[in-house]
Amino acid sequence: METRHDIGGAATRKDIARRLGEARERTRLLLESVSDGDLAKQHAEFMSPLIWDYGHIGNYEELWLLNEAFGKTLSDRELFDIYDASIHPREERPSLDMLDREDAGKYLDAVRDAVVAELEGADLNNGDRLLRGGFVYHMILQHEAQHNETMLQTLELMNGAYKPRAKVELPEGNPPENSSVFIPGGAFVMGTDDEAWALDNERSAHEVDMADFHMDTTPVTNRAYIEFIEDGGYEKKKLWKPEGWDWKVEKKVDAPSHWYHKEKHDWWTKLFGFDEPLDQGAPVMHVSHHEAEAFARWAGKRLPTEAEWEKAASWNPDTETSTGLFPWGDEPPTRERANLDHLALRPAKAGAYPRGASAYGVLAMIGDVWEWTATEFRPYPGFESFPYREYSEVFFGEGYKVLRGGSFATRPDAIRNTFRNWDHPHRRQLFAGFRCVE
Ligand code: AVJ
Ligand code: FE
Repeated sequence: METRHDIGGAATRKDIARRLGEARERTRLLLESVSDGDLAKQHAEFMSPLIWDYGHIGNYEELWLLNEAFGKTLSDRELFDIYDASIHPREERPSLDMLDREDAGKYLDAVRDAVVAELEGADLNNGDRLLRGGFVYHMILQHEAQHNETMLQTLELMNGAYKPRAKVELPEGNPPENSSVFIPGGAFVMGTDDEAWALDNERSAHEVDMADFHMDTTPVTNRAYIEFIEDGGYEKKKLWKPEGWDWKVEKKVDAPSHWYHKEKHDWWTKLFGFDEPLDQGAPVMHVSHHEAEAFARWAGKRLPTEAEWEKAASWNPDTETSTGLFPWGDEPPTRERANLDHLALRPAKAGAYPRGASAYGVLAMIGDVWEWTATEFRPYPGFESFPYREYSEVFFGEGYKVLRGGSFATRPDAIRNTFRNWDHPHRRQLFAGFRCVE
């Protein structure tokens, strides 16, 4: 990202154009090898057909950028209805009259050409609130990036129909010397007042006071999670909250999704259609909030609150300010700092990114796996929905739990210390794990 002084300048425009191109390249890469039949199919009732995501990305861009920011319309079909997520629940999406791959491709190109043309003359300094600081451009970039991660979840559920190739080798690193980090109590500043990149639910910046706690240095590993399983973690009712126990019984869950074993103690996983022995040193992934809670209780710990997570990631106790966008500061994530951006398509071993440490020395807070927190998704003090209620507001207080930090499948534009994600506590399609505190 960039410094504040050039926010409306030519550098911002150039930066936006580059990011837009890169986002679109990723969208197309994800869909390229998928057959037309698989694009149109709904692979799980809680995911959209990929062809819906594709058209929706273009329509969101037309709606917010061309329509709302510049007062222009391109499409001559009822696309705004078809691709409105709040009108059509996922179960209706397969039967909508969606654009096919070819027509969607042309539509996305036409919208994008207009978007880039408007960028030339857009007044990012004095324009209205949507344009100021490039906000609406940054919002559509993050929207495409978020759908890229959702699309990767769908592609994983297709179990082999999509075989992505990793582009980088992950660093090995060393398991951390200390398994937890002490975070002294006291106030810190949670959230942000940024209006150029931050989404509405990250605002306003506000002080939060808290007691001392110890946070796990890394997310819980597969090795630790296997101990929980082999100690009968899934059979001990006292470890589970009632809703979690009922979910587990009803769904007959006895391990993270995508796990199986050939022999006792010999755990394997099948991800994107590839079978492999579980990497014991990597974070556990594809667990629900219920499973994360049961593990924490088994370990004599608990899940961090969202505020504890953010303090451990973002606060510098020496300067008594935030480190900025990321635990290490404002510099964009690199492969030495964090595992993001679909590059390796799996989480790295705990301890792989010493240079990604927070000021307190907590590791792997950005990338690898999303981390479930104990906190329900709710507005911060001073919250104001912008630019639309259906991004965040309609989900507040509906029993959604907050996840933080992003995963290996999160694109860098859509993650930072203050970024908030949320899902139902029973969902396991996310690239999500957790860490504990005590
Ligand atoms: C923030 C990931 C929960 O996928 O439902 C995409 C992001 N919002 N299009 C979602 C989103 C509108 C959202 N999450
Ligand atoms: Fe969307």
